[in-house]
Amino acid sequence: MGLLPIRIRFQNHCSTQLLCASYHCIPNSRHFSQILSNNKNLSKCLPFTLRTHKSVVRALATESASPPAAKMVKAIRVHELGGPEVLKWEDVEVGEPKEGEVRVKNKAIGLNFIDVYFRKGVYKTATVPYTPGVEACGVVTAVGPGLTGRQVGDLVAYAGQPMGSYAEEQILPANRVVPVPPSIDPTVAASLLLKGMTAQFLLRSCFKVEPGHTVLVHAAAGGVGSLLCQWANALGATVIGTVSTKEKAAQAKEDGCHHVIIYKEEDFVARVKEITSDNGVEVVYDSVGKDTFEVSYTFLLPFFYK
Ligand SMILES: NC(=O)c1ccc[n+]([C@@H]2O[C@H](COP(=O)([O-])OP(=O)(O)OC[C@H]3O[C@@H](n4cnc5c(N)ncnc54)[C@H](OP(=O)(O)O)[C@@H]3O)[C@@H](O)[C@H]2O)c1
Repeated sequence: MGLLPIRIRFQNHCSTQLLCASYHCIPNSRHFSQILSNNKNLSKCLPFTLRTHKSVVRALATESASPPAAKMVKAIRVHELGGPEVLKWEDVEVGEPKEGEVRVKNKAIGLNFIDVYFRKGVYKTATVPYTPGVEACGVVTAVGPGLTGRQVGDLVAYAGQPMGSYAEEQILPANRVVPVPPSIDPTVAASLLLKGMTAQFLLRSCFKVEPGHTVLVHAAAGGVGSLLCQWANALGATVIGTVSTKEKAAQAKEDGCHHVIIYKEEDFVARVKEITSDNGVEVVYDSVGKDTFEVSYTFLLPFFYK
């Protein structure tokens, strides 16, 4: 799987652009964890309500009292590539933050597809064993010498690099963490940062969705997909989403999809043609990749030449 935004114009003889994006394109991204079903607090901070995807994110809440300046903490370690069984719960030394670093006791940790890619060896880690995870929210427990701008007790979150968030406590570059307002639950921050930045990049930078556009979102009820649908709807676009099941269809509707296609039950191409009156869509966000690329590209491309 990979995130592949495809821009397709169906109007007469317009050019077709293929725009590829990955998490590598997203600065400071880091994500993961549980998606709360109700983000009332978040809605106060964002122009519209975002809801994370319940099935993708699991928050690993570590609310217990922090050990007093302990150098050893528990973490999940991977010694060999493979399935979930290679994840081991072990003691690791966390150490003290150096110049430009903070130590953070995690309250919630985001789980992301990229963690699976690394665990399986699709992406290569720099070292083995390693501690997985690229997204978390927690409290600063120590700051490096001379550091200003962050202090012990700050609630912060990060997404992206460095890897190692599957841990009770971790050292982070201070310039990689962002402050989290008290109105935002740590599990929300830990689940939303990476997917939110992904959606922001895709909707506002990779292709700028405007009112009146029609967008097609594959895996519309997925973590990224659910944010894309909510956000595209809020931007004034007509949103078409594809999902595999009725349950996901209901979810996508709730997330602002104007038209939901259950691709296992309906003729996807015919439905898109019908919904768009053969005019096509401005952009397709394909979260799946290999399994759907041919559908997105090969099937939609002929409309372009109509
Ligand atoms: N999360 C991020 O911030 C981020 C950033 C950059 C890239 N990406 C990439 O974007 C893609 C989607 O990420 P996500 O976080 O939205 O994942 P997700 O919440 O797990 O959603 C994935 C959806 O893809 C569909 N799907 C189709 N074939 C699948 C398969 N073989 N295995 C699993 N799911 C399949 C499923 O929806 P249906 O059942 O409805 O088909 C599933 O709900 C991933 O490739 C990820 O690496 C994510």
